Amino acid sequence: MSLVEARRFHRIDMQAQPRIPVAILGATGAVGQRFVQLLEGHPWFEVVALTGSERAVGQKYYQACHWLLASPMPEFARDMLVLPTEPGPLDVALAFSALPAEAARQVEPLYASRGTVVCSNASAFRQEPDVPLLMPEVNPEHTGLVHRQRQNRGWKGYIVTNPNCTISGLTVALKALLQNFGIRRLMIVSMQAVSGAGYPGVPALDILGNVLPYIPDEEEKMEWEPRKMLGILQNDNIALANFEISAQANRVPVAEGHLVCLSVELAQPAEMEAVAQALSGYLAPEVSRELPSAPKPVIQITDQADRPQPRLDIMTGKGMTTVVGRLRPDPIFDYKMVILSHNTIRGAAGGSIYNAELLVKQGLISGGE
Ligand SMILES: NC(=O)c1ccc[n+]([C@@H]2O[C@H](COP(=O)([O-])OP(=O)(O)OC[C@H]3O[C@@H](n4cnc5c(N)ncnc54)[C@H](OP(=O)(O)O)[C@@H]3O)[C@@H](O)[C@H]2O)c1
Repeated sequence: MSLVEARRFHRIDMQAQPRIPVAILGATGAVGQRFVQLLEGHPWFEVVALTGSERAVGQKYYQACHWLLASPMPEFARDMLVLPTEPGPLDVALAFSALPAEAARQVEPLYASRGTVVCSNASAFRQEPDVPLLMPEVNPEHTGLVHRQRQNRGWKGYIVTNPNCTISGLTVALKALLQNFGIRRLMIVSMQAVSGAGYPGVPALDILGNVLPYIPDEEEKMEWEPRKMLGILQNDNIALANFEISAQANRVPVAEGHLVCLSVELAQPAEMEAVAQALSGYLAPEVSRELPSAPKPVIQITDQADRPQPRLDIMTGKGMTTVVGRLRPDPIFDYKMVILSHNTIRGAAGGSIYNAELLVKQGLISGGE
């Protein structure tokens, strides 16, 4: 499919028009597989290409991919040939990238420069001042950076990123607190699932019956990324949110679902009931509310003393909802709570698809018009 042909699809009638052709880059990994699963039958997007590393190129997807998910591999993907990841003959309107950061740094600009919109899970470009770090239920207005990015770089397309999986749910909860009470400072401790490290990821002998109190580069991301997403877009720049974060990251022997324990000091005094109400009543900005992957509800509060738990609560809202529990006063900060989100759905593929849906809704998916 040429880019010209692909562009016919761009300003789509969301009910009836042909679906937008998309590629999944790094389709054989933990996040790539989630894309394959979540894009099966997607109303707006049709997977036309799957790419992989040199190891996998030329094989059928079912041969190249060690399928990790509980549901069967979708039929549409099984016999697709895994293509090289470089753009070359691959000329699609939209690419979902599930590449490791180093490969993403090389490859994503090549796609963007040729006119493809890249929705990336990698950390490679998250800190760039002209690249949106996007969660549609938090900061849809940050797509305003796209024009600056294309101008700065001379690209026909552009890159949009989603955040580190650990702080996805946290940032949703912080947005609800920030807009109601303001935030002074916060401390977070994560308990992160093994699937967060990709496949094959952490060796079983390191993690079984154990906790690893170090995840390379993770704490820096946790301390910075929420401040960009909760920052204000002014004159094509993001002014970082004005509070500090202290983060500690741990890997725990859980398959899926990252828990974050949060202690937060608010800028204004607030009753606990008002805090609970701000969280449970939080609505995504209107533009993002009714998109196909929009979380319903955005935040679910549980008052059961021993919840949320990854195994029991991770699929709340099809894995897109942020689950908050154990809300209580904190003797040093104001309140503390436990936040759960699905790392490969809300924190990765599902979040990236939600980003692309927002870009379609905002008329930004062509990257060239
Ligand atoms: N796992 C999570 O919960 C999560 C959450 C948010 C964001 N992320 C980010 O999402 C990205 C993917 O993570 P993952 O967990 O899916 O990792 P993964 O399981 O290691 O998968 C990486 C994918 O990229 C391919 N690949 C590796 N090197 C490549 C190269 N040089 N050229 C082309 N393809 C290459 C791999 O192919 P092979 O199968 O041949 O190795 C595989 O398809 C990473 O940037 C990660 O930081 C992950």
